[in-house]
Amino acid sequence: MLNVEAVRKDFPFIRPGRVYLDSASTSLTPEPVLAKMLEYYRDYRANVGRGIYVASRRATDEFEAAREKLARLINAKPGEIIFVRNTSEAMNLVASGLDLRPGDKVVTTIQEHHSNYIVWLREKARKRIDLRVVGADAFGDLNITEIQDEIERGAKLVSMTHVSNVLGVRNPVEEIGKACRKNGVLLLVDGAQSVPHMRIDVKRIGCDFLAFSGHKMCGPTGAGALYIREDLQGDLEPLCIGGGSIEDVGVDYYALRSGPYRFEAGTPAIAEVIGMGAAAEYLMGIGMENIEAHEAELTREMLEALKVNRKIKVYGSLDAKRRNGIISFNLEGMDPHDVALALDRAAGIMVRSGHHCALPLMKEALKIGTGSVRASVYLYNTKPEVRAFVETLSKISESGTSGTQ
Ligand SMILES: Cc1ncc(COP(=O)(O)O)c(C=O)c1O
Repeated sequence: MLNVEAVRKDFPFIRPGRVYLDSASTSLTPEPVLAKMLEYYRDYRANVGRGIYVASRRATDEFEAAREKLARLINAKPGEIIFVRNTSEAMNLVASGLDLRPGDKVVTTIQEHHSNYIVWLREKARKRIDLRVVGADAFGDLNITEIQDEIERGAKLVSMTHVSNVLGVRNPVEEIGKACRKNGVLLLVDGAQSVPHMRIDVKRIGCDFLAFSGHKMCGPTGAGALYIREDLQGDLEPLCIGGGSIEDVGVDYYALRSGPYRFEAGTPAIAEVIGMGAAAEYLMGIGMENIEAHEAELTREMLEALKVNRKIKVYGSLDAKRRNGIISFNLEGMDPHDVALALDRAAGIMVRSGHHCALPLMKEALKIGTGSVRASVYLYNTKPEVRAFVETLSKISESGTSGTQ
């Protein structure tokens, strides 16, 4: 079980008067991660993979140790972890790196974050791929049968999110993975909202690519990871080439290295990658199952409280068991940004408001072009915080303003 009071002591951002409910956007960072990054700057501030002096070798070892930790987090091999800046860069790498041809069928969904949507629209314009966008019902639930039909009817790649960043609902990626494997279809999973919150096993999912961001899993900004199945790496053109990604160069030729280095040109975000490794270690130390169970309790309590308020419209499935810790809603008669401002002003409660980088879902399925308020929980949130949020929201809904006036 997770000891939330002990966990909270690790997070310097947490202090009286602050209730952070925006971890789906970016998470807080604990002291062990900060210490690990500072250690790099203080004790072995050198480049990786280049120098043979002690500090440079230490930097390389710590950098590669981070790769091992991230591999352990998702049950991959270290050589299958490619360091990128974030999930968005990972999606760009796959979309532009695959040798897609005119007419190749790529399947994505209306539920996607823009990062996993516009990259495919661009490939449609550039390479005339046959892009199929699978729709959702009014709850935002995807038509899974339609995805399976597309897989059976000659898709080349399915690219979909594991957990919706708007609704928190989990999609059955293992089921999709099984169908993809059976039909020889590639599967790219957007794990930005799942990897930080639950046990992920790329072998069990059966995916070929998995993207996630360090800053959403207690790591720093500027580092993310892309899992690429080992035997596919040679088929993918890197987004960027240069120093570090080269096996040999002559006056009129070059040969790229194999393995993850092929994709990692230039000096990487060394401290950030080491910090992301420390974050993975921190989360695994607490236990992904414990984190998931803790968030499930908070989500259940929040959802139960919000759905009985007649002035609040909650989006997505009302079954807490189908969700991770993200809840989007609107308050009758109020703009979502005003609600977010009022929560902050009244009780230092930080939530996101707007379209959450998922305009197709907002417009087509949920029919809320003006956006929503989104509250999201993580391992450091508590039941009293959830109650404070629900009570402040009730006051705001009664007064139609900040709740403090
Ligand atoms: C589901 C999902 N995919 C992709 C992204 C993009 O992540 P990043 O901004 O770290 O590139 C996000 C960020 O909110 C997300 O929630």
